[in-house]
Amino acid sequence: MDDQTPPLIDRIALVTGANSGLGRAVAEALAGQGATVLMVCRNAARDGIMAATGNPHIQLFVADLASQAAIRGLAAQVRERFDRLHLLINNVGTAFPARRLSPDGIEMALAVNHLAPFLLTNLLLDPLRGAAPARIVNVGTRINTAMDFSDLNWERRPYRLMQAYGQSKLGNLHFTFELARRLAGSGVTANCCFPGVFRSNLGGTDGAQGWFWRVVDRLVGWALPTPEQAARRVLYLATDPAMAGITGGYYSDRKPIPAPAQSQDAAANQRLWEISAGFTRLA
Ligand SMILES: NC(=O)c1ccc[n+]([C@@H]2O[C@H](COP(=O)([O-])OP(=O)(O)OC[C@H]3O[C@@H](n4cnc5c(N)ncnc54)[C@H](OP(=O)(O)O)[C@@H]3O)[C@@H](O)[C@H]2O)c1
Repeated sequence: MDDQTPPLIDRIALVTGANSGLGRAVAEALAGQGATVLMVCRNAARDGIMAATGNPHIQLFVADLASQAAIRGLAAQVRERFDRLHLLINNVGTAFPARRLSPDGIEMALAVNHLAPFLLTNLLLDPLRGAAPARIVNVGTRINTAMDFSDLNWERRPYRLMQAYGQSKLGNLHFTFELARRLAGSGVTANCCFPGVFRSNLGGTDGAQGWFWRVVDRLVGWALPTPEQAARRVLYLATDPAMAGITGGYYSDRKPIPAPAQSQDAAANQRLWEISAGFTRLA
């Protein structure tokens, strides 16, 4: 490889939620560095990134990650086309103002924000192991909440948007830590990134939260980082040589940050894993 060769030329990267916001910025940056990028979206969004980066190796996978059947179909297509996967960026995220159920009967924030990365990652472990050293980056958030294991599906409590969103995103941390433990010694690392608060359309497509971000944008949008700036935090974990071999961490802006106490409890992490395996019928 000479100095002109893009650094990720032989790398295959999958990014969920890649058509907008942070996911799009990450996908475009990886494509700009020469990676083959597998964009998982609910709609076509590939051409813009191809045009912007001049990289023809962009593949589009259309999947609604609220549906476990769609996730299984997506993983099967990826495994069929690629026997190696160097990077998995679980970026998908959304929020809902009221309790809604996925096609599998699961509260939507839990289904999309936690169970989708859980199931997709598990179904892609073979190509990740085959590509080792490989990296998994889960995009989490920082919300002061706790996992209510007795009612993960919001059947007994009044639904609260921020608590449901926060709980599902806390799931990303529990998942990351347990995943890293299970993958120890495999050459596949798993870390969680808090990308900071940035300009967003989160929950705008089907969660009716678009108005919220429009108000935020009107009031303080100018002061918030762009998705491209936030993407640097994800890209650090995904591609920086300094992160080679480092696993089981929670990072923001290139530095480890403290994880909520509950997610540092190995028994709680294992418990969520087992419950998630039940929800997704993972053997
Ligand atoms: N924005 C912030 O300040 C902030 C702070 C901390 C963490 N985060 C995290 O950053 C990540 C990206 O958020 P963002 O702000 O960039 O939001 P965004 O612009 O709304 O992007 C979210 C992406 O997820 C996709 N998505 C949502 N539901 C989906 C589904 N059922 N199936 C397939 N794709 C689906 C969206 O696709 P559509 O375009 O089709 O809806 C979109 O591409 C999320 O995990 C979020 O929790 C954001």
